[in-house]
Amino acid sequence: MKLLIINGPNLNLLGVREPDIYGKQDYRTLLDFIAQSANELGIEADCFQSNHEGDIVDKIQQALGAYDGIVINPAAYTHTSVAILDALKAVALPAVEVHLSDISQRESFRQVSYAGMACIKTVKGLGFEGYREAMRFLKSYINKA
Ligand code: DQA
Repeated sequence: MKLLIINGPNLNLLGVREPDIYGKQDYRTLLDFIAQSANELGIEADCFQSNHEGDIVDKIQQALGAYDGIVINPAAYTHTSVAILDALKAVALPAVEVHLSDISQRESFRQVSYAGMACIKTVKGLGFEGYREAMRFLKSYINKA
């Protein structure tokens, strides 16, 4: 089983960026955590990060036929991007949305998630652990399908 893990804008600045909200660990450490979690789950996981909406749309389109599922933290595009929502709907791969922080407890503009409308589950507020939970959930969902 092969999953695509997508991280959106500013997540490359983890560790530097608002550490009180997103933690002190950097993006490289997140990549290591995802690789180790995938290994433990016995699945393959490829990671992609971009600060550009169109690049994320391109990557989602390319996932069709290449991956069994998608884990996505669209970051700020969560709350603005109909293009990412439409791309997820277009490929129709099972997708799980992840947020490091608990967006339900934050500003009102973070309460809407467009991407989430195309996802089978949302994991929020668990930090890095959310990515492991998303991969674990997708693995069992895909195995049952
Ligand atoms: C985030 C939450 C978003 O609201 C924010 O714009 C991010 C990160 C999270 O992981 O908690 O960049 O997706």
